[in-house]
Amino acid sequence: MGHMSNRKTADNVVEAINASGRHYRDSLPMIASENILSPMVRRACDSDLHGRYAEGLPRKRYYQGCEDFDTIEEIGIDSAKRVFDCRFANIQSTSGTNSNIGSLKALAKPGDKITAVSTADGGHISHARMGAVGLRGLDLITYPWDDERMEPDIDAAASMIRKEEPAVALFGQSVFLFPTPLEELAEAAHEVGATVMYDAAHVMGLVAGGQFQDPLREGADVMTGSSHKTFPGPQGGFVISDSGDEKLHRRLNSGIFPGVCSSYHLHHVAGKAIALSEFEEFGESYAADIVSNAQALGEALSSEGFEVIAEERGFTASHQVVTRHGEIDSGAGRDAAATLEEAGIITNMNMLPGDTKALTPSGLRLGTPELTRVGMKPGDMEDVARFFARALIEGEDPSSVKNDVREFKSQFQTVHYCFEPGPAYPDCD
Ligand SMILES: Cc1ncc(COP(=O)(O)O)c(C=O)c1O
Repeated sequence: MGHMSNRKTADNVVEAINASGRHYRDSLPMIASENILSPMVRRACDSDLHGRYAEGLPRKRYYQGCEDFDTIEEIGIDSAKRVFDCRFANIQSTSGTNSNIGSLKALAKPGDKITAVSTADGGHISHARMGAVGLRGLDLITYPWDDERMEPDIDAAASMIRKEEPAVALFGQSVFLFPTPLEELAEAAHEVGATVMYDAAHVMGLVAGGQFQDPLREGADVMTGSSHKTFPGPQGGFVISDSGDEKLHRRLNSGIFPGVCSSYHLHHVAGKAIALSEFEEFGESYAADIVSNAQALGEALSSEGFEVIAEERGFTASHQVVTRHGEIDSGAGRDAAATLEEAGIITNMNMLPGDTKALTPSGLRLGTPELTRVGMKPGDMEDVARFFARALIEGEDPSSVKNDVREFKSQFQTVHYCFEPGPAYPDCD
């Protein structure tokens, strides 16, 4: 009896997996941090490697049986060095957050000062006291912010860095529309002996594809990031540096293992190695198409009558577009996200400048990585914006919009920018 009901419970999970697959297949997934896997990467993630251990570095292991995996990790590290044009790459980290925790372990000690973007201005929780920065016991000071330009106020932030003399000056955001003015700020940081760390979690693919900014050439000593956002690989992280300092390399490697991982998800490392090769082949055009689509989406939403942030700067230079749906702290962003989901459009509410409450913000953050990966082009962004307007401005019944979204999306069911284009949403039985 118990056995039967346990089986039924497991079956229910499988059914929910398939329901989720169908949901995304039929929707417009526009969460800026999400992406889908290429068939080759998916195979790596489903391989025997998922249950194996390989603590240490290639050819220097604590376990037997790692020879083939050593080959995989070495290929991946070499590819990462080419893709990010750098002298050091660690591809073991299991997430962007783990990349940050491991790097902060390597670069600072408890009680040290760190400067970073506040979460209210678009910084990530791992840059905050509630996240990695607090976990490492660091003393956080946030940058003065330019709300109009959606970036640190250059002069005020540079003088703050000079005055505070942090051990680490951390840059990068989760709401990331425009490149950080890194050269000026890194100069101030280096003057006072700080290490410059750039969190490229969101923009890793745009950076590697040469479409955003080039942090390692603009003063970043260490770049961290996720391997599954604009960089279209499996869930995981990278730690990158162009420093020739081998002591720093050793500290960064040990920040990840043994710092934050024992087993580091070998199947995902293999997936990253394949995704890096695919990126070398297709990444530049993928990154360029993501940005063109985001700019076209900003333009199209504005033409439909939406308030799109940073119109005067061309809406965006990244994969994201940010819209305002009502008064500060009104919860209008939360309500818009809920209505859009009923209409088959998946987004997230987001705080905008002035908002003080994360659960009742006035904005939405939209992303184009997945729509681009399934083949949408700038002209298609006009259709996407039309669906937004029908659901949010014209007040049409969301379920009738949803039917049209499903029909529109049925033309975009193949994952592109990879060696073997195939089904984008295979888990729909
Ligand atoms: C700036 C920034 N850093 C780090 C992360 C964390 O990445 P992960 O979800 O891979 O842990 C995010 C996630 O969205 C992010 O926006």
